[in-house]
Amino acid sequence: MARILITSAIPYINGIKHLGNLVGSQLPSDLYARYMRARGHEVMLICATDVHGTPADLAAGFRLSFDHFGRSSSPQNHRLTQHLAGRLADAGLIEEVSEQQVYSEADGRFLPDRYIEGTCPNCGYDRARGDQCENCTKQLDPTDLIEPRSAISGSTDLEVRETKHLYLKQSQMRDQLNTWIDSKSDWPILTTSIAKKWLHDGDGLQDRGITRDLEWGVPVKRGTEDWPGMEGKVFYVWFDAPIEYIACAAEWTEANGLSDADWERWWRTDKGADDVRYVQFMGKDNVPFHTLSFPATIMGSGEPWKLVDYIKSFNYLNY
Ligand code: MF3
Ligand code: ZN
Repeated sequence: MARILITSAIPYINGIKHLGNLVGSQLPSDLYARYMRARGHEVMLICATDVHGTPADLAAGFRLSFDHFGRSSSPQNHRLTQHLAGRLADAGLIEEVSEQQVYSEADGRFLPDRYIEGTCPNCGYDRARGDQCENCTKQLDPTDLIEPRSAISGSTDLEVRETKHLYLKQSQMRDQLNTWIDSKSDWPILTTSIAKKWLHDGDGLQDRGITRDLEWGVPVKRGTEDWPGMEGKVFYVWFDAPIEYIACAAEWTEANGLSDADWERWWRTDKGADDVRYVQFMGKDNVPFHTLSFPATIMGSGEPWKLVDYIKSFNYLNY
């Protein structure tokens, strides 16, 4: 009898629950779990909702056989996300970077590029976004826009301010990730081709901003300590979301009156997880985060976390 750990990509809470989620990750993970359970194996099938970024609600109801369905806003995920960020910083894999970003007085917040609208300097389209003009497809910077305004309030009272963010130096882990991906000769082409594209295309694996000027999310801390200069900021949703795969198992033990050892045997290779087979299911847009960013996070921590053994990814469902 084997132990099989299975995760389905965790859907955004504000997303309309759609057939793509079901077909591209939840249903196949469920089928695989049922099959493995029926074969007599010990199975842990995990999903959750990815609640940070922008809030809303996800109605449950497809009657899938998740052993636990968690949420990325749990205290367990807060603690583990902050812990891993601290470990990465201790390992020299975090850099503090000062950036110029557009601040909206009226909205009382920094605006991500796509939340700034204005007239395209290239084609004159009056609803171009700060990252790209949807009319002529030209890539833009917010400062290129003529008469820029907030896409949230319409306010034109915008100014460029300096803000500091944490970057995960995943480029330093390129060789390690490359070797790991290359060792996965049995993975589907869809998975490895996307991973390799991100590893090798253009300038290759870029360092990645893992914090945001937002109130809603996991507060930036270095382990349990405050992080000077990071007050009022949260981790980027794609940093904390995959960590919820682990935290979700910890939520499961707490909800069932079990002990830490009961989730650690699924996730810590020093606590018995070395004989677990870990399989992930997801749509193809999720592949870079699961083949590169999340592995960089847990490998970079220097701690013995279980790495995924097989990633099944799916093309988009078109209908
Ligand atoms: N919420 C993301 C989506 O719906 C998936 C997150 S998967 C995780 O595309 F690994 F980050 F948790
Ligand atoms: Zn344009």
